[in-house]
Amino acid sequence: MRLEGDGLYLRPYEPGDATPLLDIVLRNRNFLAAYEPPRPDAYYTLEGQRHIVEIDSERWDAGLRYAFGVFLPSGRIVGRVALDNVVLGAWHNATLGYYIDRELNGRGLGTRAVGLVVEFAFRRAELHRVQAAVMPRNPASARLLEKLGFRREGRALRYLFIGDRWEDHDMFALTIEDWPRGRRPLV
Ligand SMILES: CC(C)(COP(=O)(O)OP(=O)(O)OC[C@H]1O[C@@H](n2cnc3c(N)ncnc32)[C@H](O)[C@@H]1OP(=O)(O)O)[C@@H](O)C(=O)NCCC(=O)NCCS
Repeated sequence: MRLEGDGLYLRPYEPGDATPLLDIVLRNRNFLAAYEPPRPDAYYTLEGQRHIVEIDSERWDAGLRYAFGVFLPSGRIVGRVALDNVVLGAWHNATLGYYIDRELNGRGLGTRAVGLVVEFAFRRAELHRVQAAVMPRNPASARLLEKLGFRREGRALRYLFIGDRWEDHDMFALTIEDWPRGRRPLV
């Protein structure tokens, strides 16, 4: 599975990506710590990154998570976008998570990468709804979602454990009715 965009492509991580993945997570450790749940020390090892690749692959096969690496045309890994907690039935919903290498922020990579994964969610994974949760102190992420047409639905109090505390989050969502083919030529 490969998603092609303007100046980037996305594909699931492969076992051979573990070394460059370790490099990006180490370089962005302090940056991402402000936005992510606490990570065990093992996460910052080659074995830990191999484990992430394996778990992503198992969850993809089970239809529970669709995780993509974000790559420049050169093959450099610059981030990750994942649809997680995929539930079908009456919900057909997934949660969205993403990051882009801090040194490449502000160039539109995040918006284009998330746009490609939303397109995948609606056109290939046949989901009806995609949701994302953003801390009020993360305006770049909120702006990214608004550029893609996400609705701000309200504030969920003490929603996720980030760093060392339960943080309030603003809930954003799109349903397929908001994403007609051709209306948003972002991807
Ligand atoms: C959020 C993140 C993915 C954005 O990636 P990116 O590649 O910089 O995104 P883009 O360049 O496509 O868009 C970012 C937008 O936010 C805007 N922005 C950046 N900092 C901002 C700030 N402090 N206040 C308001 N807007 C801001 C940018 O100007 C840009 O909008 P524009 O195109 O209208 O100018 C990246 O900053 C990141 O990885 N953050 C840490 C992890 C994270 O927050 N993940 C999401 C958790 S919900």
